[in-house]
Amino acid sequence: MRRKLAAGNWKMNGTSESLKELNALRDAHPDPKVDILICPPATLITSAVVTVADHPLQIGGQDNHRAENGAHTGDISASMLKDAGASYVLSGHSERRTDHAEIDEQIRRKTKTAHAAGLTVVVCIGETLEEREAANTLDIIAGQLAGSLPDVLTAENTVIAYEPVWAIGTGKVPTTNQIGEVHDFIRTKLEQRFGAGVGKSIRILYGGSVKASNADEIFAVSNVDGALVGGASLKASDFSPIITALENA
Ligand code: PGA
Repeated sequence: MRRKLAAGNWKMNGTSESLKELNALRDAHPDPKVDILICPPATLITSAVVTVADHPLQIGGQDNHRAENGAHTGDISASMLKDAGASYVLSGHSERRTDHAEIDEQIRRKTKTAHAAGLTVVVCIGETLEEREAANTLDIIAGQLAGSLPDVLTAENTVIAYEPVWAIGTGKVPTTNQIGEVHDFIRTKLEQRFGAGVGKSIRILYGGSVKASNADEIFAVSNVDGALVGGASLKASDFSPIITALENA
């Protein structure tokens, strides 16, 4: 009942040259059985939207300001992303939490602003290595969920991405048991807070060093509804087999 989602986060990578990767993705997946999302840098959103016009591939932003508009030099509002043709936005990625000292309360406000603009928000949560080694993972996840999610949301406008900070860009991946434990925990928390209907319907992505060689085993884990992929989303030749693995899961 949950449509799977293969999401790519290009981070601060990509120029107009990179649009050819989107063309290659649309050619490789003319009729995808899963949702596909690419979040390019903001400078490419408009041209990316044009590139994938008439194809179900969706384009998203990587961040929006918590305010709707105003004096915030260098920032981008949710309604600007929507106007540029984005349908999704990431919120609370660990690199935003680190580089820009974003805390749960800001992420919750950004998420609400993005919802109001009509965007679907991928809210990112995950523990650091220190927190995992101290056996605090589930407490951290519970706290981030409680703090980052607004009280009112729907399964259509919200996706959760569980991304252990220590697995992002490192090539280190949790065991499938560790992924399953956290995803099951997130599902329970969502059901408790938002009710069984919404809680069971929200998609939960895994993120952190997903690549073609580990996608099959990750997608077989319970409550893994797709992936948020960084490095392996930059090239269509790397991302395409991950999409295919998700279609076959
Ligand atoms: P990675 O990044 O796939 O390069 O580990 C994942 C992410 O940050 O979303």
